[in-house]
Amino acid sequence: MSNPSTSTFPRDFVWGAATASYQIEGAANEDGRGESVWDRFCATPGKVRNGDTGAVACDFYHRYRDDIGLMRELGLDAFRFSIAWPRILPQGRGQVNGKGLDFYDRLVDELLGNGITPFATLFHWDTPQVLEEAGGWPSRDIVDAFCDYVEVVVERLGDRVTHWITHNEPWVVAWVGHGWGHHAPGRTSDADALAAAHHLLLSHGRAVEIVRRSSPRAQVGLTLNLDHVYPASEDSSDVAAAAWVDGFHNRWFLDPIFRGAYPADMLEAWEGNLPEIRDGDLETIAAPIDFLGVNNYTSPLVAADSNGGRSQIVRRPNVDRTDMGWEVVPEGLHDLLCRLARDYDPSAIYVTENGAAFPDVRGHDGRIGDPERRAYLESYIDAARRAIGEGVPLRGYFTWSLLDNFEWAWGYWKRFGLVYVDYATLERIPKGSFYWYRDFIAAQRSAEEEAA
Ligand code: FCB
Repeated sequence: MSNPSTSTFPRDFVWGAATASYQIEGAANEDGRGESVWDRFCATPGKVRNGDTGAVACDFYHRYRDDIGLMRELGLDAFRFSIAWPRILPQGRGQVNGKGLDFYDRLVDELLGNGITPFATLFHWDTPQVLEEAGGWPSRDIVDAFCDYVEVVVERLGDRVTHWITHNEPWVVAWVGHGWGHHAPGRTSDADALAAAHHLLLSHGRAVEIVRRSSPRAQVGLTLNLDHVYPASEDSSDVAAAAWVDGFHNRWFLDPIFRGAYPADMLEAWEGNLPEIRDGDLETIAAPIDFLGVNNYTSPLVAADSNGGRSQIVRRPNVDRTDMGWEVVPEGLHDLLCRLARDYDPSAIYVTENGAAFPDVRGHDGRIGDPERRAYLESYIDAARRAIGEGVPLRGYFTWSLLDNFEWAWGYWKRFGLVYVDYATLERIPKGSFYWYRDFIAAQRSAEEEAA
């Protein structure tokens, strides 16, 4: 594998790492934090592998200063984290918990003091449990509750946070959490999934208005999980199956955001299962954004389903896979970025997550060699570089993740970090990929200086 060329990333390109509150913070019962749907889901037997929970996680809540030290050592320009709604509004609405806000205040100041730009995600899946009980994302009322929360957070941090991401991966919340029940809150209804998706999008549009008002100099966008879908053959049935998967994962979210309309083919497919879509909703959802966040890990090969379903994923032969079983397809990131620029013309794109899980172990010498992760990152970063060369307005790249962390229904089994976490002691041990990323970022800077 060749090293990605160090010369073609733009001068102000942002190199970052990403995390999310429930996956790293721990301190679940501290300083007035309320219960989230993930606390409840983890406490429900059989939902999360090994009965793991985010109660302690990486204990980032107490160790963030040391972890920011690691970010500095890496030379990160930016850190993507999320804010835990139940720390701010433990009861979902009403009483604001000052201690919760104080934590993010300290975190933001510590980042800025170390020259690291905070990219704050407002919602990365930890809905207050009380709001789930009041109807959750399938109920339209949650949109107002989310806006109350956003007002409070942006009011407090908006003088320093310059990059806001409203939602992380609404598709996953909708389908994995509400359609299939593999994630919190564990619902299994297509109608709930579609209603949740609509209310996530609507609350995104409303949140954009709030950020623009309370933090006028900030940039605001949202993060979607987008996969470039390849048909398994040119056969029209395979092409139609791929179009369905593209509509399901990608267009259902991209079209309303960038075009102010749900895609017609998908509206037809879901007729009878859709929530109420009121006049004006789509205008709200299509509020102009400053950037699109893209989470991309793999790219499916899709064929018609011989068993009567709409589509099936075909496993590629002879392709590397990560510990999640996800195929390593760097070309997919390149093709995806080019397609987004061509079809949706976003003013800027950030890759807000990209990375790989591997079953990392500490060697006898105490080190953690993870050449597969390094190769993965090299190949995906090179794909991003090529897309920029073709005119894609990609402004930054965040690897998932800084630290090994709580990987949702997989618990602590799947390790995505540049830094290994020994969960028994909470010790952090940088992996080989950490040193590679550090040297790669430094080489970018030197190349920029030479060019200047
Ligand atoms: C994404 C999530 C992130 C992490 C990675 C592996 O879907 O946004 O929290 O779990 O997958």
